[in-house]
Amino acid sequence: MADTTDDRGVWSGKLAFILAAAGSAVGLGNIWRFPTEAASHGGGAFLLLYLVFAFLIGFPVMMAEMTIGRNTRKNPVGAFSFLTGGNKLYILIGAWGVLCGIMILSYYTVVAGWTFSFVFEELFHFMGFGGLSAWFGDTSSGLNNAIFSVLFMAATITIITGGVAEGIEKATKTLMPLLLLILVILIGYVLTQEGSMKGLSQYLTPDIGKIDTEVIFAAMGQAFFSLSLGMGAIITYGSYLPKRENIAGAAAYVTLFDTGIAFLAGLLIMPAMFVAQSNGITIFADGGLKAGPALIFQVLPNMFHNLGGVWGMIFGVGFFLLLSIAALTSTISLLEVVTAYAIDEHGVQRKKAAMGVGSGILLISLIISFNINLISTLDLVFSSIGLPLGGFLICLFLAYKWGPENAMEEIRQGYAAFDQSLVRKAWPIFIKVIAPLAILYNLLSTLYGAF
Ligand code: PHE
Repeated sequence: MADTTDDRGVWSGKLAFILAAAGSAVGLGNIWRFPTEAASHGGGAFLLLYLVFAFLIGFPVMMAEMTIGRNTRKNPVGAFSFLTGGNKLYILIGAWGVLCGIMILSYYTVVAGWTFSFVFEELFHFMGFGGLSAWFGDTSSGLNNAIFSVLFMAATITIITGGVAEGIEKATKTLMPLLLLILVILIGYVLTQEGSMKGLSQYLTPDIGKIDTEVIFAAMGQAFFSLSLGMGAIITYGSYLPKRENIAGAAAYVTLFDTGIAFLAGLLIMPAMFVAQSNGITIFADGGLKAGPALIFQVLPNMFHNLGGVWGMIFGVGFFLLLSIAALTSTISLLEVVTAYAIDEHGVQRKKAAMGVGSGILLISLIISFNINLISTLDLVFSSIGLPLGGFLICLFLAYKWGPENAMEEIRQGYAAFDQSLVRKAWPIFIKVIAPLAILYNLLSTLYGAF
């Protein structure tokens, strides 16, 4: 195998790692998937469950992934192989992760392409080019979807080709603060508009009666998707983390950052829906709030168009730019998993790996571009089911094969006070019992309900 150490790379420091991991976590999952899931599952009830899952299950699993990654310094497949002396059964956990990464990236790229094409939809609308605006806003056109998927994948490949410090780190260091800024400005605007308070109260008042197996399942899937867990993205990013950094602290920051942005996105989208309603736009469909693509790509653009003028343009363009940035810092983490796999396991050079793997996945995106109804099935299989399943297997592996003691030996490095901490007491219990049981119960009751 070729010497690929140079192609692996390390983060320049703690902030770089946290921003990159937060960049992976914060994505369409926060600004698109979270608010729309909340809208279709009772607003506040969903928010509450999502937060519970993120902190009680997501955070311990995130620590587990970072620990496996830093200890082995490898991609998910290599990591499980390394820790088990090449045991094929365990390698499957890593392979499942890489497969989920490939499939999620394939449809994520198409949706990310929409967000970017809507930057132009908004721009041309406000410049008075109605025809062009409609062209860019047509998510049902296979050709448009294909063009924007190619653009988005090209941007992703370019960053990954640059490597860990020069590519991923530089991109996330500029993009993440910009994202936060745009988000806060948009919230400020929406909350001053008529109707917004109605949305705010629907979002912040949990209707406990709305909680059922379906809502619980959706909230768990959302927590895994949003935190980029269960498929080895965090194992891979963790593999570039120097030993001097504190894993528990970093995982806590990333979880807080990600849930924080999701919460903020809810503060923007839910009120925006009711602002749109007071502008005469229909926001209810099939007995519930409009959700999914209809919400982001119809209700919101309509609201910006109604606002009109320079402000309409600034907010419309700003919003879709925000989504595109969030999506880009996530697609790079998805592509990095598969690229790291090619580099570590097959000795491919980084540039070739990124281009080869990226183009392969783009082919799947092109098929999806012309068959967008595939997206919901792929999302169900590889994200809502696939990621919690991966997280479940990672917990079992760490608890009963590698052993929490070995894992904690790794965590101790970079965290001197670990043995006196609450994390030391609680984490093993969450990994051994609470997280796997909660995930299993959830997956089984959903399967049971489905048949
Ligand atoms: N967390 C990303 C988001 O919220 C999606 C993602 C999932 C990225 C899994 C990497 C791995 O959009």
